[in-house]
Amino acid sequence: MKHIDIADIIRSQEYVDQTITVCGWVRTSRNSKSVAFVEVNDGTSLKNIQVVVEKGDGEYKEPRVGMSIKVTGKAVAGRNNTIEINAVPQDIEILGDCPTDYPLQKKGHSLEFLRSIPHLRGRSNTFNAVWRVRSVLAEAIHKYFQSHNFVYINTPLITGSDCEGAGEMFQVTTIGYSNDYKNEAEYYENDFFGKRAGLSVSGQLEGEVAAMAMGKIYTFGPSFRAENSNTPKHLAEFWHVEPEIAFAELDDVITTAEDMLKHVIRELLDTCPDEMQFFDAHFEKGLIARLEELISHDFGRVTYTEAIKLLKESGEEFVYPVDWGCDLQTEHERYLSEKVFKKAVFVTDYPKKIKSFYMKQNPDGKTVAAVDLLVPGVGEIIGGSEREADYNKLIAAMEERKMNLELYSDYLDLRKFGSVPHGGFGLGFERLIMYTTGMANIRDVILYPRTVGSIR
Ligand code: 4AD
Repeated sequence: MKHIDIADIIRSQEYVDQTITVCGWVRTSRNSKSVAFVEVNDGTSLKNIQVVVEKGDGEYKEPRVGMSIKVTGKAVAGRNNTIEINAVPQDIEILGDCPTDYPLQKKGHSLEFLRSIPHLRGRSNTFNAVWRVRSVLAEAIHKYFQSHNFVYINTPLITGSDCEGAGEMFQVTTIGYSNDYKNEAEYYENDFFGKRAGLSVSGQLEGEVAAMAMGKIYTFGPSFRAENSNTPKHLAEFWHVEPEIAFAELDDVITTAEDMLKHVIRELLDTCPDEMQFFDAHFEKGLIARLEELISHDFGRVTYTEAIKLLKESGEEFVYPVDWGCDLQTEHERYLSEKVFKKAVFVTDYPKKIKSFYMKQNPDGKTVAAVDLLVPGVGEIIGGSEREADYNKLIAAMEERKMNLELYSDYLDLRKFGSVPHGGFGLGFERLIMYTTGMANIRDVILYPRTVGSIR
């Protein structure tokens, strides 16, 4: 179907005075005696293109909102540097009808309502902007890592180990409800893989395998968490960016995270000015200034121990009490980034008891070389660490947690055969989109959100 993308038409004056064809969905339609105005959007741009129809003697059948049409007409310069298309009724071909029960007849629907029509919400300005920002951020992330010698690795989604060991894994099985097995062991033996399997919560462990060969790698794929967390920032299926770096200590991991984020946000601001202005105007006043400010300064840094002291001295009434050894809750994370530091802040060196087995143990015997990045509005968007590279220390940490070492023989071998200091982090892609768009609910930054109790 030979036509020109509206994004290309709007971007330059090159089509002015030419006869061109556009396709798209009708956003608005106004009809007067001799002339009609139809706003068309084909998804390639946040902006619509206006078709001005000289009705003349031709029979004009007014297109309804939501219909898909094809228009051939002359491109002309409109007001405020816009481009319009002049057409006559015969130039408008209706590709797909749209009855009046189309849910997006009117503008200004709530996000909650739009969530109930995930298959149509992409045709609203908000979701047009979100999906494009998502795409641009994904490309910027690939570009950053590719240009810094990282190799893109696809790690398995079905796994036999539970990376974080937190029991939040979705089970993968081909055996449905059944009473045929004497016990659990027999059931798993008869299942597809002959052992218990699940959807991976993180590609990190396999990412480490690749980094121990390629030096610097990153993954960018879905991770699955069967957490019962019905919050605005938890998904059961989220997209996870996980770089892993050989010959690196915690400080190198932090430097990479900060540099990467600054690069991708710069790229977003440069590539998506219309979308970012839209979010600034409709979702978070001052968003662009906040992001410009973020990328022009160093992020904050504080140890967990210092952070606990700051929280205790704050005089704030938190729902979850604060004491050394506690996990930081979103309210604590947001207080630190929004009230104390007023910017993105790395919190490091957490108590080993609340972190994963693979994190490098610090000489104090109490903490590990872990890092979380907290940002205003969202809380944690990155979690990472230097990894324990010492074979015996790693085994001791796993035994303390009563882990089945057999399941981790590959991982342990990495510490046996040429072990190196290394580390990495995981960035929640949807949380980055929330932070950079001002969208407050993670359900609004992914096409089909999967959350506890809800799948469509
Ligand atoms: O802190 P997490 O659990 O760390 C890991 O999975 C490590 N294996 C990462 C690594 O070192 N390679 O998760 C990392 C990030 C979080 O900071 C958060 O942004 C995101 O993943 N995340 C979620 N995003 C949406 N919904 C969820 N349920 C998420 N759980 C984690």
